[in-house]
Amino acid sequence: MFISECLSVNEENHLTIGGLDTVSLAEEYGTPLYVFDENQIRKNCRLYTESMKNFYGDNGLILYASKAFCTMAMCKLIDSEGMGLDVVSGGELYTAHKAGFPMERIYFHGNNKSKAELELALSFGVGRIVVDNFDELHLLNELCDKAEKKAAVLFRIKPGIDAHTHDFIMTGQIDSKFGVALETGEAMELLREANTLSNIEVVGLHCHIGSQIFDLPPFCEAAQVMMNFIADIKKELGLTIQELNLGGGFGIQYTENDDPVSYDKYMEAVSRTVKETAKKRNIELPRILMEPGRSIVGSAGITLYNVGFVKEIPGIRNYLSVDGGMADNPRYMLYDAEYTFLLANRATEEKNKTYTVAGKSCESGDLLGENVPLPEAHTGDTLAVLATGAYNYSMASNYNRLPRPAAIMVKDGKSHMIIKRETYEDIIKNDICE
Ligand code: LLP
Repeated sequence: MFISECLSVNEENHLTIGGLDTVSLAEEYGTPLYVFDENQIRKNCRLYTESMKNFYGDNGLILYASKAFCTMAMCKLIDSEGMGLDVVSGGELYTAHKAGFPMERIYFHGNNKSKAELELALSFGVGRIVVDNFDELHLLNELCDKAEKKAAVLFRIKPGIDAHTHDFIMTGQIDSKFGVALETGEAMELLREANTLSNIEVVGLHCHIGSQIFDLPPFCEAAQVMMNFIADIKKELGLTIQELNLGGGFGIQYTENDDPVSYDKYMEAVSRTVKETAKKRNIELPRILMEPGRSIVGSAGITLYNVGFVKEIPGIRNYLSVDGGMADNPRYMLYDAEYTFLLANRATEEKNKTYTVAGKSCESGDLLGENVPLPEAHTGDTLAVLATGAYNYSMASNYNRLPRPAAIMVKDGKSHMIIKRETYEDIIKNDICE
């Protein structure tokens, strides 16, 4: 009935998540509130880990791209699923460290890691550092020298693939700030150089072509380009690439218009390309890694808001204001991202009105959606926005000094907090005023 399996409706016509009444959750924890269903997250994880096993046996690992939603509880959950973790900043790395995540299963990404971040990664002993460019390679080699350590690295490659998604979340084409280009020879040069550095162990390659992608062909093309590059490296440098990280980017369903490919189909198609190219080019199969973020956590989360004032402007539009907005979900403002909305307290009532859902920030563009079909809404209703598990909390801000919402996890009929609601004291805690 709803776009996520963890959602349903109870006899009071309230939306439920993981069997719990969302209206009661909103009352208990306050709003705005991020709510996650643990079983759904685990189910999404297992779709990947089982599929990986089916198509690559033990020669693969699924990493969770923690940028989608990174908290200590989430790191623990991912660890308990036996997965690895993609981190992209010192903050994400520190979160994982504090959660006791095994460092050998961490891949550290980023196009502009600072010296301090690289030092932190070396001191924690992270499994792999994904080197983005020549400057980083040299800095890392130097830092390893000082720390008397060797770094096992992957290289971020632009495979030159144009994935059909929003411009801001497209990353595999040549005009991208991420990685080094194949077609100009830059990537081969980077590998040649890395191979001469004593503190660098060249382990693998990485690519990521973008996010919220529904087409299969770009993933297969990227896999083919990367496998061919592995063969070229072998030929030209005599180097065996042991790991190929194919990134994340699998689209999820935000509205009924979205039609994602099943992961199994994706795995099947990509693994076929990988194996065929290996055979054709006569190279060994590398260990395959993938790093989904959105598709692990997106469908497992919703956001609950309290409806405030409703403003009808005849002939123009109807504004429905909620007690959050761009500060807890900037995705509509940034990407025109579409969501499914419903009134949690009248979940199946006919949607016979159209609203512009506005936030409470002092900014006209602070909207969560336009032309949103809903039943007639009133102050005090609970508005649910579905599939907000990925890139909502992680992109939240304190704009207008709004405290960030709490996040809770529900499981087997129980709920618990995983992120406390910020207080006004949290808002001023770093201010210095003498
Ligand atoms: N690996 C790398 C290197 C990435 O850059 C990303 C996402 C992922 C994996 C995970 O991609 P996913 O499976 O989640 O699509 N803030 C945007 C999305 C930015 C994605 C950035 N990189 C949004 O809200 O749509």
